[in-house]
Amino acid sequence: MRDSSFSKAFLWGAAAASAQIEGGWKDGGRTPSIWDMATKKQVKHGETCHTACDHFHRWKEDVALMKEMGLKSYRFSISWSRVIPEEGKVNPEGLKFYSDLVDELIANGIEPLVTIFHWDLPMWVYKKGGWLSESIVPLFREYTKVVVEALSDRVKWWMTINEPGCFIMNGYMQGAHAPFKHDYLALSKLTRNCMLAHAASVKAIRQYAKQPVKVGIAFSTGAWIPENETPAEIEKARRLSMEEGSGLIGNRWWMDPMLAGKPVRAYGIYASHEKDMAEIAQPLDFIGLNIYTSYNYADWGSNQRPAPGTPRNALGWVIDERCMYWNVRFVYERYKLPIMITENGLAAHDMVSLDGKVHDPKRADFIKRYLGQLKRAANEGIPLLGYQHWSVMDNFEWAEGYDPRFGLVYVDFTTGKRIIKDSAWDYKHIIETNGAEL
Ligand code: BGC
Repeated sequence: MRDSSFSKAFLWGAAAASAQIEGGWKDGGRTPSIWDMATKKQVKHGETCHTACDHFHRWKEDVALMKEMGLKSYRFSISWSRVIPEEGKVNPEGLKFYSDLVDELIANGIEPLVTIFHWDLPMWVYKKGGWLSESIVPLFREYTKVVVEALSDRVKWWMTINEPGCFIMNGYMQGAHAPFKHDYLALSKLTRNCMLAHAASVKAIRQYAKQPVKVGIAFSTGAWIPENETPAEIEKARRLSMEEGSGLIGNRWWMDPMLAGKPVRAYGIYASHEKDMAEIAQPLDFIGLNIYTSYNYADWGSNQRPAPGTPRNALGWVIDERCMYWNVRFVYERYKLPIMITENGLAAHDMVSLDGKVHDPKRADFIKRYLGQLKRAANEGIPLLGYQHWSVMDNFEWAEGYDPRFGLVYVDFTTGKRIIKDSAWDYKHIIETNGAEL
């Protein structure tokens, strides 16, 4: 194999989340999460996540597909209400599901990467106040403990929370995600509870882990891309990405307190106070970055509009692979921790062709574009731990339902049938050559 700037241990994988793939919403002792309760009006076409990809029943087949695609890692999340269906009650059947999944992954040479919370808050926690109440902190700690005690003899990689900015902004402020609230005034409280829960979870992982573990968190992130690569333009892009331009759901609001112990105040609102910093800034082993698009064209903080006809994905997000490099670089320069790309992928309206296959050349091209930029970061010596493509399979895209397809595997949501898409074979080649040809 030719030399590659990606390390030999680089984790080439794919990701998914419990609510988006599992289904089996009432099976095996599980109780509903806030996403199960979304109404017909809140999700496109009135679709639900009750069955999703039926991964809860088809997990063995899914792991076999992962192996066929050559994945070296799989990032998945735990459904809190499957494991703790009501307050104070641990569900052994729920834990067994994840334990069996972990065994199957390992037996197939796939490293499990676990996210503890990827948005599917149990209804019982929601009824106690959810993220609006500080009571979530001990509940989240207890939940973490239960999961870590069950899986950490085999699972080394842990992420506490997926995209705090996204679920708080979408779920509690813009009313676009469960629990569909419009409560901008609660931002400070939500942020604090979330950060304290993250910290409690990090501590619980370290306390109960049965082997040395790697602990991180996955941020929704983005960066401004410099117009050209002069020092002045780069500095401007850095400032906009990491300081004033990154907005409420941007980088600094979450990262400065959690990664650097620096309190943040923006728009007259406190994200975090000095007095909480010692607790919130728990040492982490890595930063997870979910990277899709650049901040230049985002709706927040920018007046730039993309030129007519600029490439976009099926959700309207601008495709500009340079954000991969600049995002990784700016975050590394500021926080100096190894980075894992915990999500990156393309939403498309893929379909099965007459030949029975799923041809998705755009996704294959997208992967090469974005990975090429990641390789630039690797070439410059930025420590990169892995790349988890979003997503391993088509799934429930939250309030957008099932139309936007992100998977390497196509899922027929009526029959449950899976088809490996063309792009997955290209990705497999990239994995086998450790990115040498990118
Ligand atoms: C989330 C995923 C989601 C993906 C595409 C990320 O924000 O973590 O759950 O499906 O983006 O929208």
